[in-house]
Amino acid sequence: MRASDSHDVGAPGAGGGKRVFFALWPDESAARRLHDAGRALQHECGGRAMRRETLHLTLAFIGEVAGSRLDALIELGARLPFAPHRLCLDQLGSWRHNRLAWAGSCKPPTELAEMVETLHAWLREAGFPIEKRPFAPHVTLVRRLERGFPPRGMAPIDWPVSEFRLVASERRAEGAHYRPLGRWPANLPPAPAQK
Ligand code: 2AM
Repeated sequence: MRASDSHDVGAPGAGGGKRVFFALWPDESAARRLHDAGRALQHECGGRAMRRETLHLTLAFIGEVAGSRLDALIELGARLPFAPHRLCLDQLGSWRHNRLAWAGSCKPPTELAEMVETLHAWLREAGFPIEKRPFAPHVTLVRRLERGFPPRGMAPIDWPVSEFRLVASERRAEGAHYRPLGRWPANLPPAPAQK
């Protein structure tokens, strides 16, 4: 199987199963700027820029889940503590193993790390297998990249994080389609501003 095949392609399983993941979705402004960055990278390095409406940052990839287990994920999402914060995307990079170009942050917010740590711990406790690899927050901009490049800075893209989603990945004629199954707003107060 090619690396690109194992990613954004959803395949419904038996028994109403779905391929699901928790993710952040950018607002219009951040999505537009990320899409512009993806198209510029596609021009420079080949590959296929992600469509604007599909751009996201994965918090936890769960994979194929039986329909009967979706309620457990929705209930878990509704309880997850998380504070609103701002994510600043200021890095571009590429990965050879899966031929991706991505946007990331040289200083991911602590609120994001805390949220993901709790999410992964709760998912494991509930019996959902989550990869033990450290969380590498990134937004995939281009798939099937033809030429990699070393990490570099980019003009910062501000992403106000105020909700997260549980999403089902489905295959459509135009490519992957991501359908929200649940959306939850921040339920903790914002951290006091740093002096
Ligand atoms: P990627 O963008 O780095 O490929 C939907 O497939 C989302 O889940 C994508 O953002 C994808 O990350 C992420 N993901 C994380 N681990 C995955 C895995 N083992 N298989 C497929 N997608 C995965």
